[in-house]
Amino acid sequence: MAELIGASTWEAELYDHLTSHEAIEGEMLVEYRDVAATSSSRAFRYLSDLILEDEIRHHRVFRDLASALKNDAELDPADPAIPHIGKWGDDAATVLRLTETLLERERADAKELRHLASELKSLKQETLWQLLVKLMEMDTAKHIEILKFVKRSAKKSLE
Ligand SMILES: [Fe+2]
Ligand SMILES: [Fe+2]
Repeated sequence: MAELIGASTWEAELYDHLTSHEAIEGEMLVEYRDVAATSSSRAFRYLSDLILEDEIRHHRVFRDLASALKNDAELDPADPAIPHIGKWGDDAATVLRLTETLLERERADAKELRHLASELKSLKQETLWQLLVKLMEMDTAKHIEILKFVKRSAKKSLE
C-alpha cells in the first residue's frame, strides 16, 4: 500500500483506513456485479443493480477521500479530488438563495413520496414498487442533508 510522505501519525492511520475500506468496497462491487449478471431472478438482478450503482459511488468516494488526504498531507499544490469549501465561490449569496429554493422542492418531494408510499402499501408483498418509493424517500432525506449543509456553510461565509 502506498505510504504518505511527511504525514503525521493520525494522517497515516486515516489513510490506511480509507484505502483498506476502498478495497473492501471494491470486493463488494464485484460480488454485486456477479449477482446482477447471473441470478435467474430478474427482480433480484434489478435490486442488485440498484445496490451496485451505490457501491460504484462508494468506491469512488473512498478513493477521493484517500486522494484528498494525500494531497493535504503532502502539501500538494494541485487541486484536490474533493474541492475545498472556500467561500462557495465568489457569490455565496447566490448559492444560499439557490439552496433555499432547492430545499423547499426537496421537502415538497418528500411529502409526495410519503403519500405515494402509503398508497402503495397494499401492494407491498407482490411488487417492488413500494420498496422503490421508500428508497427514493431515503434519497430525498440525503439530498436534504446535503442542502442543509450547504445552506449553513454558505450563510456562515456571508457573516
Ligand atoms: Fe458500500
Ligand atoms: Fe431530490
